[in-house]
Amino acid sequence: MSETAPPAIGLFDAIHTARAQRRLRPDPVPDALITQVLDAAIRAPSAGNAQNWDFVVIRDAERRREVGALYRKGSDIAAAVYAARSRPAHLTDAQWQGMLRGGAHLWDHMGEAPVLVVPCLRQRDLPSREALDPAWRDRYDDERIYLDRIRGASIYPAVQNIILACRALGLGTVITTNHLRVEAEFKALLGIPDDVDTFGLMPIGWPERPFGPLSRRPLEEVVHYDGW
Ligand SMILES: Cc1cc2nc3c(=O)[nH]c(=O)nc-3n(C[C@H](O)[C@H](O)[C@H](O)COP(=O)(O)O)c2cc1C
Repeated sequence: MSETAPPAIGLFDAIHTARAQRRLRPDPVPDALITQVLDAAIRAPSAGNAQNWDFVVIRDAERRREVGALYRKGSDIAAAVYAARSRPAHLTDAQWQGMLRGGAHLWDHMGEAPVLVVPCLRQRDLPSREALDPAWRDRYDDERIYLDRIRGASIYPAVQNIILACRALGLGTVITTNHLRVEAEFKALLGIPDDVDTFGLMPIGWPERPFGPLSRRPLEEVVHYDGW
């Protein structure tokens, strides 16, 4: 698989089969493929076209082990939360248990994926209150809330591009966020600057399991035409 180009796959096939791949083989992934994936990531939209993103790519085995240990630490907290959560009604017990098993597998194996990618975003502050037209200054605090609300929307489209680009290349990945529970340690380990936030930790590798199909709540349940 890693030696030859994967068969071309249509966009909708990719969307429908890019399942969370948490069991990845340790075999190396050529740098050129990771570059292709990241080149897809940076085609994503961002607010004001700011493109305030950075991507940390971890290939060094010892560094991956250290990152994996921090993911495990963050996951211990996640495990306690999940133990108290009940199964979403739309998932069968088998689907729910499968997700929990896959998630738990990754707690102990994150560092074994050949490549880890950390999508980051530099914080983008507002212009100063005084720089605003006086007529708009009383909206300043609301504007800050707005900015916080949309922050992730300038990096998660890039994350989805990574997921789809991996799928197109036959690579497996999954967006994970448990490391955010120990983000200060995580950033210190990777030397990530104070004004940069991390938004995910994505293992990338050749998947042990087949892709898709994805099961989701049906359209009739979630789409509202011309109002809720
Ligand atoms: C914001 C976000 C955070 C997630 N965090 C984790 C995580 O920490 N660990 C993990 O194993 N999966 C994580 N996932 C993956 C979800 O569990 C997965 O997308 C969902 O179960 C659907 O899986 P499927 O596409 O294979 O059906 C996360 C997904 C999202 C969107």
